[in-house]
Amino acid sequence: MYRIAVIGGDGTGPEVISEGIKVIKASCARHNKKVEFINYDIGGDRYLKTGEILPDSVLEELRKADAIYLGAIGHPDVKPGILEKGILLKIRFELDQYINLRPVKLFEGVETPIKDKGPDDIDFVVIRENTGGIYTGHGGVTRENTAYEIASQTMIYDRFTVDRCLKYAFELKRKRNKLNKKYEEKPIHLIHKRNVLTYCGDLWYRAFEEMGEKSYKEIKREYAHIDAANMWFVKNPEWFDVIVTENLFGDIITDLGAMIQGGMGVSAGGNINPDGVSMFEPIGGSAPKYKGQNVINPIAAILAGSMMMDFLGETEIANEIENGVKEVVKQMKSMNAGKMGMSTTEVGDRVAKFCS
Ligand code: IPM
Ligand code: MN
Repeated sequence: MYRIAVIGGDGTGPEVISEGIKVIKASCARHNKKVEFINYDIGGDRYLKTGEILPDSVLEELRKADAIYLGAIGHPDVKPGILEKGILLKIRFELDQYINLRPVKLFEGVETPIKDKGPDDIDFVVIRENTGGIYTGHGGVTRENTAYEIASQTMIYDRFTVDRCLKYAFELKRKRNKLNKKYEEKPIHLIHKRNVLTYCGDLWYRAFEEMGEKSYKEIKREYAHIDAANMWFVKNPEWFDVIVTENLFGDIITDLGAMIQGGMGVSAGGNINPDGVSMFEPIGGSAPKYKGQNVINPIAAILAGSMMMDFLGETEIANEIENGVKEVVKQMKSMNAGKMGMSTTEVGDRVAKFCS
């Protein structure tokens, strides 16, 4: 019996998550697996009503779940940062979900804005370090609201944080290399900006080289600056297989990744603690203008559900859901909200039917 904590959250979050739940329930029923979903009313509306962001009691319950399934966090009436830091980042940090795993995979029948590239070219994974860097919140402001205001926000990394992230990336690369010759030919990429960030970049680079040389000699290694990598994502996405990068660069480059795989409607991610509780989410945000209209694309949330089942060890269920998605995206007119040629619930129904 799996116990999944559900945070639908803001905007269209609850709508897409309920389609994901529908699909997971269908597939679990077919495979005789028991799964229970426990809802937590967390997000902008609760904050505006009660002032509560993420009560400790909820955090304690999340720690005991088998996984967390999250819709979206971000509300138009709440100042940016409050909910993001108070809910999403707090869960990532408190539960030590130090890997943010974001596959960038173009499915057959999904349109990419990149001319002449297809599913064979766009098939890689970004491993974004998820608990360090600028996101740690070191810094501050003095002389606020004067002409001499000073603000700082510091990128912080320690060897332990870097090493555990790199290890995860190398292990994943080794696994993928065994899966497919096509992956084996490609290197693992470290992305940073070590020509300017000469302290943090150098730490990542040395750690990457040392670990690769010592424990993963059979894996080809490549380093790229973040700005150049941005360019190559668009120009030569087929160069990439496993990419590992620090937190902020990973945040930025995965939005680009989402676009080349067909948009925010299809991009899913996992916040992973390999030894603890992980959280899975569509990475597209709360899209408040589409809330309640049954037009938002739930595919990303459904794929996040597939990732979640995979991490729970239910490979068959995970594959079945992904195969269902592959079928249904071919029937959809577009991956964009309102243009899918079907409603949110209909997309969910079709994937669920495939899995029943
Ligand atoms: C993401 C989001 C978050 C991040 C925000 C909402 C805090 O952009 O998950 O990519 O920056 O990590
Ligand atoms: Mn982001």
